[in-house]
Amino acid sequence: MFETLKAQPADKILALIQAFRDDPRADKIDLGVGVYKDASGLTPVMRAVKAAEHRLWEAQDTKAYTGLAGDPAFSDAMIALVLGDAVPRDTVAAAAMPGGTGAVRQAFEMIRMAAPQARVFVSDPTWPNHLSILKYLGMETVPYRYFDEETRGVDFDGMIADLKTARKGDVVLLHGCCHNPTGANPNSGEWDTVIKVLLDTGAMPMIDIAYQGFGDGLQEDAAATRQIAAAVPECLIAASCSKNFGIYRERTGILMAVSADASARGLNQDTLAFLNRQNFSFPPDHGARLVTMILTDDALRADWQAELEDVRLSMLGLREQLAAELRRLSGSDRFAFLAQHRGMFSRLGTTSDMVEKLRADHGIYMVGDSRMNIAGLNATTVPILAKAIIDAGI
Ligand code: LMR
Repeated sequence: MFETLKAQPADKILALIQAFRDDPRADKIDLGVGVYKDASGLTPVMRAVKAAEHRLWEAQDTKAYTGLAGDPAFSDAMIALVLGDAVPRDTVAAAAMPGGTGAVRQAFEMIRMAAPQARVFVSDPTWPNHLSILKYLGMETVPYRYFDEETRGVDFDGMIADLKTARKGDVVLLHGCCHNPTGANPNSGEWDTVIKVLLDTGAMPMIDIAYQGFGDGLQEDAAATRQIAAAVPECLIAASCSKNFGIYRERTGILMAVSADASARGLNQDTLAFLNRQNFSFPPDHGARLVTMILTDDALRADWQAELEDVRLSMLGLREQLAAELRRLSGSDRFAFLAQHRGMFSRLGTTSDMVEKLRADHGIYMVGDSRMNIAGLNATTVPILAKAIIDAGI
């Protein structure tokens, strides 16, 4: 039977992990997959996560199933974290998902169930797995302009012009903060304009928020999501706990469906539970339980927020150091965008040949579109990267 299978394209981000592991050079630098690393190159278990795990180990007396939507306390805690009081709680249906990717996949499935003809507008570029999952599900995608190759900021005029072509029944996929792969984000006034276009066209926003707390702060990074959810009649929000709680392998995420009024919530909630049952039955609980414990315990929460803030500031510091070093070496401001970008990633804005050259000559690994994971740097490797960029003539 399986001889009929066709080889699938390798995921470019994940393929880099293996290529990096196989590289024998001791001074290689991994700026590939989006995993936070501290100055010593480790991806630590956060203090609050460790403490919560300890407590859980002592107190947990059953591993029996939770509900199909996961533990309602997890939904409550995550809705509060992401949405604050932007919308009434009784308009939000939510279910735990296996990671942010699980939430994205389930969101697309819910859209396809409700509106098989829906076109999904995606930023050009977007996280490659968005496109891969949409293609796998047979859903139509429409790219909208997003990145200005010259300024390395948002091509806002292009974005708005393209979004205006959306229709009622279409979906606009937005990155709530810390755009992956570019690092360039609309400002608050620009989000207002996006909302106006959404309201004018009747297209439904779907927000992927995977890096809350990695950009300008926990509340600041949720601002656009809250602005949008409060303004539109309905939206979907896929949120990940992988990065901001550092629990990547626990697969912890949530899908929220916000409706115009409380009467639509029940159907949305039942649909989320149904989709979970069809796909994997009960969502993973361990990471979700840790997140719930942390968010609902004052001391754990304070410690988590403090550590997350340290992580955020360290990435900002690396951005500033890299921009300053490139200013010094190039004698120009053309890399100033690196300090303005937010989140884990920046798109350097060079060709795949140059990316390949950096890998071959210097053992510097970034994604082929020149996306760099800023957290893969440290104070020692920043000058090495800057020199390699200038030597390569970028
Ligand atoms: C990334 O973009 O590197 C991360 O979101 C990890 C992944 O699953 O691709």
